[in-house]
Amino acid sequence: MQDKDKLEIYLDRKSINKRVKAIADRITQDYKGKVPIFIGVLNGSFIFMSDLVRQVKLNSEIDFLKLSSYGDNKISSGEVRLLKDLNCVLADRDIIVVEDIIDSGLSISYIRNLIANHKPNSLEFASLLYKKTTVKLDFKIKYIGFKIPNKFVVGYGLDYAQKYRNLKQIYVLKH
Ligand code: IMP
Ligand code: MG
Repeated sequence: MQDKDKLEIYLDRKSINKRVKAIADRITQDYKGKVPIFIGVLNGSFIFMSDLVRQVKLNSEIDFLKLSSYGDNKISSGEVRLLKDLNCVLADRDIIVVEDIIDSGLSISYIRNLIANHKPNSLEFASLLYKKTTVKLDFKIKYIGFKIPNKFVVGYGLDYAQKYRNLKQIYVLKH
């Protein structure tokens, strides 16, 4: 951890576990009799994704895609590029996209268009965090862990300049 970054605890392990379990239980109910494909958005979703899929009591499949990141900035460039595409067949399948956080909504909108082109049977979104002050979307995010104000957060998969993903809890980053 670098000295100049100040981390302030925002969501502790217990609250995170509780919300992940609640989302997993809802998905278990909503997808009864189905075999959903969870699509994690790299890199940020990898920890939430692994906790979530292990709590959903259904047969499921997983895949990942990767978009261009913010680089070392805390503000989106406003441009989204696909760095790693999917390997699975999505047609007629039930897809749940798993994100760490939705900020402007640009990334998730891009992913929605990308996946909709593959004609899945259904398409829903699970995001651990949702910045209610900045999101602009014309569709609904069905599974949300926490709605948060416009703060920059790290830990539990979320990074700042690729650091802090390994932290077990979620912190607000201050310089
Ligand atoms: P959006 O396209 O503006 O919705 O940005 C979504 C992506 O930006 C997320 O998947 C994160 O990777 C990253 N991001 C947005 N806000 C934060 C934050 O507070 N901390 C860490 N990453 C963030
Ligand atoms: Mg991300």
